[in-house]
Amino acid sequence: MLPRGLVGRIAAWVMVTGHKSIYKNMSELLDLQPEDDLLEIACGCGHFLKKYASHVHNIAGLDLSQLMVKIATRKNRDRVAAGTAEFVHGEASRLPWQDNKFSVITTMGSFIAFPKPLETLKEMYRVLQPGGRVVVSVEWNAEDGLDHTKEVNRWGMGLWMEDDIRSMMIEAGFVDVSIAYAQGFKMPKMMLAHAMKPDEMSPSKSEPQEKVEDQKLKIVTQIADLSRLLGMIPSDDTIEVHEPTTHNSMALSKWFSVTRSSFLRLSVLISKTLDIQLQ
Ligand SMILES: C[S@@+](CC[C@H](N)C(=O)[O-])C[C@H]1O[C@@H](n2cnc3c(N)ncnc32)[C@H](O)[C@@H]1O
Repeated sequence: MLPRGLVGRIAAWVMVTGHKSIYKNMSELLDLQPEDDLLEIACGCGHFLKKYASHVHNIAGLDLSQLMVKIATRKNRDRVAAGTAEFVHGEASRLPWQDNKFSVITTMGSFIAFPKPLETLKEMYRVLQPGGRVVVSVEWNAEDGLDHTKEVNRWGMGLWMEDDIRSMMIEAGFVDVSIAYAQGFKMPKMMLAHAMKPDEMSPSKSEPQEKVEDQKLKIVTQIADLSRLLGMIPSDDTIEVHEPTTHNSMALSKWFSVTRSSFLRLSVLISKTLDIQLQ
């Protein structure tokens, strides 16, 4: 049932009061940074974006209710006027943005109402930047010990188990899916699912595992070449490089970038000190 008219306005006010615990938990998990471009799907009256995301670079909200889009736009009018906020009318499984636009995407208080949850997660994945993060809260769920028969019959609400959410997120392409629980008003065990979109350096559905091995080999070869160039090891010797201790894709990706940037910094330092022209 979509919020409309006077009842909709009252519902928006009640929602903000009842969702305080959701907003607090979500803002901790989202860990929003000033450089973030944040999208909230089913943003309602835009309260979360106004109160908890005032410091981020850009905010965007989408909602199926015209009334909610209107209220959210008015609530955030200064940012809308400044061009750092936009609110659009639309359905969660058809997002009107180009690929890789946002660094963080969230939805709260709404997932159980989405008619196409998997398509929605796929859309979130599409518009999320590589390396970006997603946080989805599922306040009422099949793990919370409540009887939701009435709501399922009345609204066709999705009654999700932890495994359902996890496998949908993985099917949508996300990695590092983790699920935590929190308590809130009339929500004894809300599910908070956090995940990442792999960045270019990590293996993904379209990148086979060999590519990771290729990348590791490239880094090791570069270190060996530089060491040989500097006479640190004999030209026919090998060097030992510590392997990452995990096959977790995001951790591997971090390992690559940390190793690569330390190596580059080290090369520049050594080349400056020894006045060597690196090729
Ligand atoms: C309970 S409110 C939560 C609003 C907001 N996330 C909050 O916590 O304050 C649910 C919102 O989801 C929106 N909604 C429901 N189904 C939707 C859909 N399929 N696509 C986009 N928005 C939807 C409703 O219009 C409503 O504003």
